[in-house]
Amino acid sequence: MSLYAIGDLHLSYQVPNKKMDKFGKVWHDHEEKFVENCRKMVSDEDTLVLVGDHTWGRKMSECEEDFKYIMSLPGKKILTRGNHDMFWDSHKTDKLNEQFAGKLQFLQGNFIPYGDYALVATKGYTFEGPFYLDSRGRIIDWDEKEAAKAEKLVEREYKRLVEAFEKAAEAGYKKYIMFLHYPPTNVLQKESCFTRLADQYKVDQVIYAHCHGEARYDDSIKGDFHGIKYSLVSGDYLKWKPQLIIQ
Ligand SMILES: [Fe+2]
Repeated sequence: MSLYAIGDLHLSYQVPNKKMDKFGKVWHDHEEKFVENCRKMVSDEDTLVLVGDHTWGRKMSECEEDFKYIMSLPGKKILTRGNHDMFWDSHKTDKLNEQFAGKLQFLQGNFIPYGDYALVATKGYTFEGPFYLDSRGRIIDWDEKEAAKAEKLVEREYKRLVEAFEKAAEAGYKKYIMFLHYPPTNVLQKESCFTRLADQYKVDQVIYAHCHGEARYDDSIKGDFHGIKYSLVSGDYLKWKPQLIIQ
């Protein structure tokens, strides 16, 4: 029984104008590459966490084929929420779980047990600019208004994450894997409220996605930070091979 994760599938079976091919070779037939890798690596006893940005469909009727594809993947599938998942109203996660009962699990601002671990997830948020650069490409300033807006969204997501940890702790869990869609820090930060919460709950691992395209791979923490393992699992970064989280 193993736990795997990957994010940013950005499926577009019903909105072909959104196909990701223009973002480079790694995206060509990425759906087929990913299925093939899953069949080689993931068994039906395993769990696969899909870390947000599943589909370009804006409403459920535009996502049906994408969900069929996800349901056809091996293993138990847990979906967390990304910034492009318009089908997913954050206040109606229970409804999604009812609709896909026995097929898919949707996790946002809550936890799901995995052995003696609690898998804790929320979308997260980070300020992504606009930044102003000097002639050498170094950040010298940023949009204060956008930064203030981002701060509010960070606060909302932070509260959701606190709630998720509190529920897991109340249920008796002491071991945690934390999932965010957004990176835990932005390019200006060394740490954030999300990394401090990971420290506070002594989580084993922090998993995030969202940073796709080579220029974004080093936006945030990767590897060991305060004794916690941080992993970027965006699909193109992983070349569509799900990342093993726990053996
Ligand atoms: Fe994203």
